[in-house]
Amino acid sequence: MSQGPGRGDDRVISAGADTEEREIEAALRPRNLHDFVGQRRVRDQLSLVLEAARLRGRSADHVLLSGPPGLGKTTLSMIIAAEMNAPLRISSGPAIQHAGDLAAILSSLTEGEVLFLDEIHRMSRPAEEMLYMAMEDFRVDIVVGKGAGATAIPLELPPFTLVGATTRAGLLPGPLRDRFGFTGHLEFYGSDELELVLRRSAAMLDMQLNSAAFSEIASRSRGTPRIANRLLRRVRDWALVKGLEQVDARASSNALDMYEVDSRGLDRLDRGVLEALCLKFGGGPVGLSTLAIAVGEETETVEEVAEPYLVREGLLGRTPRGRIAMPAAWKHLGLSVPKDSPVLGAWSLIDGDDDSKDEVN
Ligand SMILES: Nc1ncnc2c1ncn2[C@@H]1O[C@H](COP(=O)(O)OP(=O)(O)OP(=O)(O)O)[C@@H](O)[C@H]1O
Ligand SMILES: [Mg+2]
Repeated sequence: MSQGPGRGDDRVISAGADTEEREIEAALRPRNLHDFVGQRRVRDQLSLVLEAARLRGRSADHVLLSGPPGLGKTTLSMIIAAEMNAPLRISSGPAIQHAGDLAAILSSLTEGEVLFLDEIHRMSRPAEEMLYMAMEDFRVDIVVGKGAGATAIPLELPPFTLVGATTRAGLLPGPLRDRFGFTGHLEFYGSDELELVLRRSAAMLDMQLNSAAFSEIASRSRGTPRIANRLLRRVRDWALVKGLEQVDARASSNALDMYEVDSRGLDRLDRGVLEALCLKFGGGPVGLSTLAIAVGEETETVEEVAEPYLVREGLLGRTPRGRIAMPAAWKHLGLSVPKDSPVLGAWSLIDGDDDSKDEVN
């Protein structure tokens, strides 16, 4: 079982990616806004921001991109630089622990350059304060010396565009958020959009799939292009080993069943949680730690890795008295909701069916 920080990142349906995967992903990244699938609103707004900047002959406003892992924040930042025909500098919040680290980056920027700061919510406080001034006035104060003898030397910066990415917009301090001229929040993708992502990737990987195969994979991808692309690669492995030229829905579902990703994108951990909830605890309510013990996992793993998606899919509910199985959970496990379940009375009015499968938001 996985342990320690980053738990669950080895899951086939994890939305995160390790270094090796990020390299593979680089090849599948769309290079311009036109090829970027879905996120219509963000794309249209961003396209306007960039076009206006181009017409004015200026660098674009600072852009903040927020949203869950694997939805395209890094991809969009690269697209912004490409669309502005500007060089791109990449760094991240955790890499900038001292204000000096940031000063070194800022002072070496060239005019119009795009600076991408990933996980911007993890930057240190002093660096953050330096960033405020840099974003607003294109200026930083470089502090020389220590204590009473320290002096601040102001340094003018060339105009640049900061693109910040965060999975936790709520953690950004207000003053930082306010300094972005444009904020784009990325949403989970619908099945039709994921199919487009998959079609594009399949063409690049030189794979032959029929329409039903695309929709089969899309429905298991948890609204996330990164997961869709990963499942596609698993299907490709399967087809290669089985000697299949053309992949259909059945081959896709057989391949993904083997990796224990079910028809709704749940993996073994997710299903284990639902099964424990329904079969051992009669649908709950049951405390998180008890539930975790029942599935042999750490509380944090259940809470941070399995639950968000189960809650989003309307399979699991969090109540002050503990976790409960929603009617859709019973159905998904092929069980009927027990007539005497207190959950039924409380929840049947809210979620009576699971036809919301495609509504991944
Ligand atoms: N709209 C999209 N169209 C096509 N492919 C996409 C789209 N969004 C993301 N992808 C693909 O999904 C993968 C992950 O995207 P990306 O790295 O941009 O996610 P991210 O939001 O930066 O994730 P993280 O929060 O983990 O850094 C990339 O390989 C990219 O090609
Ligand atoms: Mg990223």
